Amino acid sequence: METIISPSILSADFANLENEIIKVRDLGAKWVHIDVMDGHFVPNITIGAPVVKSLRKIDNIKLDVHLMIENPKKYVEDFIAAKSDIITFHYEAAREKTQELIDKIQASNILAGVSIKPKTKVDEIKEYIKTADLILVMTVEPGFGGQAFMEDCAEKISQIKEIAKNIGRDDLIIQVDGGINEKTGKICKNLGANSLVAGSYIFNSSNVKEAINSLF
Ligand code: DX5
Ligand code: ZN
Repeated sequence: METIISPSILSADFANLENEIIKVRDLGAKWVHIDVMDGHFVPNITIGAPVVKSLRKIDNIKLDVHLMIENPKKYVEDFIAAKSDIITFHYEAAREKTQELIDKIQASNILAGVSIKPKTKVDEIKEYIKTADLILVMTVEPGFGGQAFMEDCAEKISQIKEIAKNIGRDDLIIQVDGGINEKTGKICKNLGANSLVAGSYIFNSSNVKEAINSLF
């Protein structure tokens, strides 16, 4: 599977979102990562479903929505209606409702992702490696772009990869988010990640093309 690069628009120019997305799309990004924050689950507020709905008008790009919100069950319908292509929510916010949410997202033909924060162990989400389309390993505390990669979280990638292999889930998307650049991206790919989210590394780069190419 070719590495899926998902540039995070958190570091893009919000006054110019359409062009920022077209730029990374035309440089080879097949997904764009949209960080939804509620000021409760994380100490920051960003954007919601109306923005996803507007971005849907851009052709040939998959909208990879990362919900960093409390009570994802309450809001997931809005992101389904906004026609997200991938919806990833946090296990720490969904807990015993995790499988129900995966089912609901997949029933709308949308890829369902389960994300874990740095302190959450793979063991806690093991059962969802069977049923989710994507597992997102956070390598920073969620909330802000531009933080440093936490290398000790990266071993979770190989743990997930191993479990996936043992149950025949070669199709599982193992995504990493937080502090990804050329060097940390390589570490994650070597451990088994097949999707890299990168915000500041791509959008703050003086050569966006080179930055994207360095992640493949
Ligand atoms: C952080 C977000 C990330 C963020 C990554 O909570 O989930 O997607 O944009 O930013 P960088 O790549 O700059 O660490
Ligand atoms: Zn994210």
